[in-house]
Amino acid sequence: MNEPILSEVKGHVAIVTLNRPDVLNALSVELMDKLIAVLEGFDRDANVRVIVLAGSEKAFAAGADIGDMAEASFLDMYERNNLARWTRIKQVRKPIIAAVSGFCLGGGCELAMHCDMIVASESAQFGQPEINIGVMPGAGGTQRLTRAIGKFRAMELILTGRFIPAAEAYEAGLVTKVVAKEQFLAEAIRLAETIASKSPVAARLAKEAVLAVDELGLTPGLDYERKLFYSLFATFDQKEGMKAFLEKRKPRFEGK
Ligand code: HXC
Repeated sequence: MNEPILSEVKGHVAIVTLNRPDVLNALSVELMDKLIAVLEGFDRDANVRVIVLAGSEKAFAAGADIGDMAEASFLDMYERNNLARWTRIKQVRKPIIAAVSGFCLGGGCELAMHCDMIVASESAQFGQPEINIGVMPGAGGTQRLTRAIGKFRAMELILTGRFIPAAEAYEAGLVTKVVAKEQFLAEAIRLAETIASKSPVAARLAKEAVLAVDELGLTPGLDYERKLFYSLFATFDQKEGMKAFLEKRKPRFEGK
């Protein structure tokens, strides 16, 4: 009944849903453990090409579970080192689309920013309000939000805890697209299906190349991209994609 993570597969798209409605999907240790296991499972599942990560209409997630941390000492937090596991989300190779409605705050916003695209409902609200409870972002917010929207806007949000509506998040570059409240999940699934219709191996390598922008300078980044591009010529999908174009038909990608 109280399963914090629900999941299903439709065609080549896996839909993973955060499910702690009573606490606005606060990210408990148990929820995060299960989420990471489910994401890694879908990353290994050859039938799954794209993952959609959703919350409810009311909340994607209102942050880490404050009840889990309120009484912890520095040493408790340091020894538990729960946040180190979030690296495993970064290591998922398949594209992940966050479907965000309602509150997307603190660790929730950081979780959305671990994803590759964010489809937001017009009712979504984003923020890093940790400053209001005497802490600061700890799961990548200072780094990923700053990369997404720039130092001067990220600094304001992180130092004041202000929430921004979907339209402002879109304008700032945090969000891929904003859609009507009733549409956010369907739209995220539609986007996932579009990506799932492409070559899955090309999609994974393209994701890897885009993410490398945070790690590499321009010249090594271009070199890395070029090598990944050349490597795709070892795949069936490249032969099929280019042949289909020349034969004026739809390609049938197989991910090999
Ligand atoms: C635990 C939470 C929670 C959270 C909400 N709830 N957020 N429980 N951890 N992060 C619980 C409330 O206690 C309440 O439970 C129920 O969910 C509904 O919340 P309300 O506050 O009654 O709803 P509302 O008045 O609509 O306000 C919504 C809200 C507010 C503005 C989102 O809940 C809020 O400010 N939440 C905390 C946001 C936050 O500070 N996030 C950052 C957390 S720290 P009851 O039992 O009373 O019904 C963080 C660190 C990240 O994320 C580091 C790495 C992960």
